[in-house]
Amino acid sequence: MANVVVAGTQWGDEGKGKVVDLYAENADVIVRFQGGNNAGHTLVVKGQQTILHLIPSGILHAGKTCMIGNGVVVDPAVLIEEMNTLKSRGLLASSTRLLVSEKAHLIMPYHRLIDVARESHGVGKKIGTTGRGIGPAYEDKISRVGIRVCDLLDPEVFREKLKRNVQEKNFYLTKLFSEEPVDEEAIAREYGAYAEQLRPHVADCSLILQQEINKGKKILFEGAQGCHLDIDHGTFPYVTSSNTVAGNACCGTGVGPSAVQSVVGICKAYTTRVGEGPFVTELNDEIGARLQQVGQEFGATTGRKRRCGWLDMVLVRHAVRVSGVTGIALTKLDVLTGIAKLKICTGYRTEQGEFTESVPANLRLLQQCRPVYEELDGWTEDIRGAKRIEDLPGNTRRYIDRLESLSGARLALISVGPDRDETIILNNPFGD
Ligand code: GDP
Ligand code: IMO
Ligand code: MG
Repeated sequence: MANVVVAGTQWGDEGKGKVVDLYAENADVIVRFQGGNNAGHTLVVKGQQTILHLIPSGILHAGKTCMIGNGVVVDPAVLIEEMNTLKSRGLLASSTRLLVSEKAHLIMPYHRLIDVARESHGVGKKIGTTGRGIGPAYEDKISRVGIRVCDLLDPEVFREKLKRNVQEKNFYLTKLFSEEPVDEEAIAREYGAYAEQLRPHVADCSLILQQEINKGKKILFEGAQGCHLDIDHGTFPYVTSSNTVAGNACCGTGVGPSAVQSVVGICKAYTTRVGEGPFVTELNDEIGARLQQVGQEFGATTGRKRRCGWLDMVLVRHAVRVSGVTGIALTKLDVLTGIAKLKICTGYRTEQGEFTESVPANLRLLQQCRPVYEELDGWTEDIRGAKRIEDLPGNTRRYIDRLESLSGARLALISVGPDRDETIILNNPFGD
């Protein structure tokens, strides 16, 4: 038995989608455990790109079970659209089961409106959210007024919960933000139609996972965002509203910790961030612009330009610790080709001149930190065709060796291009 969690070690967009798609070949069930359609996971197979926001990145492999776990917040309109897009491309094979947890919470129209209104009305600090209603949906879950997928399937319960929520949210929208109120009837009609479309996919995913585990099937848990966007362990308040660390694979799907054997932490060969918040190694120069262009660093969800900077091993080491990473999947190494001198951040210098190897919790202190770099020689050779570590130039190997020793975990995989095939596999976490 080998069940594997894939989680980001930075601020998201590390290439989780590519790695999950690759590992899905060896898995039987692929399950998303948190986040919502704030995520954008890109898969490229033989040059053809697929971007997924809610459906697990195992969906291109026919005959697998793909699950949306209870820890995910589901916008039914987005889910149905995503299913239809895949079907229109002949991709959602009939042998594939797509299941949605009955306990997952729904994103409602008022969640999106509140998210956008908060960001634009200057209430509190602007986070630079994706505007998808993620934070407000998780708030309702925690304050116990959220509407779940199982409620959607029960018209009476749904209507009762909707009424109560609309009352409260309309007060908030109109009085605090001077926005238009939402219409309960219109939402009831819209969501009633979604209920019928989703009904065949709704299941007790926790129970099915346990049954599959008992049969010796292999489970791949797919994380969204990254460690430093985690609500507890990230750069709060510039984070998302869920736990993105590997531990949440259990709570977000309904399995116990003993079900997980390996955690693969996805680490981009440099650092990016979308939205606001501190970024110690950010480069506002031609190298930053080059990483952005060569790496095609545009948000897969919002299309925003991603901020870019040198690899920050303080962040990665922190992620290895809090997610219990057993193997690192290093991605986008090819993007560094042609840069004469590469820098790796090994620690931070505080305003008082002290050296620290951890991320200060106090945002004011973090914002004052300066990076301490080690400089390494770059390489010019094209590495995209590399299939074995021996195919990589000496300077590339020195860069990844240093990264590995600073991370505190072993390298499991090196990605040298966006395509599924452009990968060097060092250690398969499923043990095949
Ligand atoms: P995710 O959110 O972690 O799944 O990552 P995204 O899909 O948002 O962003 C990663 C981007 O990098 C996507 O466009 C991928 O196709 C691309 N990508 C993944 N791995 C590599 C790689 O090794 N090299 C290059 N050049 N691109 C990659
Ligand atoms: P994947 O899974 C990168 C960022 C947003 C914003 C903050 C809060 O593709 O790696 P939210 O809408 O979640 O309330 O926004 O989190 N963010 C991401 N950044 N990749 C993601 O997902 C992200 N999901 C949210 O840009 O800064
Ligand atoms: Mg992404």
